[in-house]
Amino acid sequence: MNDKELVAHQALQYVSENMIVGLGTGSTANYFIDALAKRNRDEKLNVRAVSSSVVSMIKAKEAGLTLLAMEQIKEIDLYVDGADEITADLTLLKGRGYDLVKEKLLARSAKRFIVIADESKIVKNIGDNFPIPSEVHPFAWELIKNFLIKKGTGDIRINAAKDGYAITSCGNFVLDFNYAEKDTEKLNALLSQTPGIVEHGIFYNLAHGALISNNGKVREIWKN
Ligand code: 5RP
Repeated sequence: MNDKELVAHQALQYVSENMIVGLGTGSTANYFIDALAKRNRDEKLNVRAVSSSVVSMIKAKEAGLTLLAMEQIKEIDLYVDGADEITADLTLLKGRGYDLVKEKLLARSAKRFIVIADESKIVKNIGDNFPIPSEVHPFAWELIKNFLIKKGTGDIRINAAKDGYAITSCGNFVLDFNYAEKDTEKLNALLSQTPGIVEHGIFYNLAHGALISNNGKVREIWKN
């Protein structure tokens, strides 16, 4: 079992009968989806799941989980997802995928949000390893880029085929920027207050706990 799979399995201990569980997106979250589906089947837990992306929805469906649409829920019991970066105070950077809006909605709506990752995701400051993504209304991207360029360096995200701009599942563009400001609280406030930014990749004060694996061992970090 690799380190990502290991933390995914550890997260299963926080699942119990009749829960509504939010499913994250990415390779670590995929391990959780498979493990959850198996435990749900084996132990007849009657878990229902809500996906954070089309990719995780397809994965969950194939694994045999019962899915609820976001429109059908008011809150969820548990959300388990990966992250691109994690700081000691459990601030996260997410959004290498294209479903920031749903990911943050599920994180905010969960009674408990647990992030699962291997040690490579631990950083001192958000933005150490990756630019910070902001999902923006297509008509606003030039205006927002012109504003953000005064705060850092970056550009609009190009799609995988490199023949156009990347488009999120909500039909928006993404601006990936590195900022001079390293204070995550200030950056979070700046991006949250910028008109035209629909959502951004800083998950501040949202995760309740983290399961971090390193060479076959898992440590847990919990918010007080
Ligand atoms: C997607 C995410 C993912 O959780 C993040 O990119 C981690 O992916 P992986 O588990 O494949 O390393 O935030 O938007």
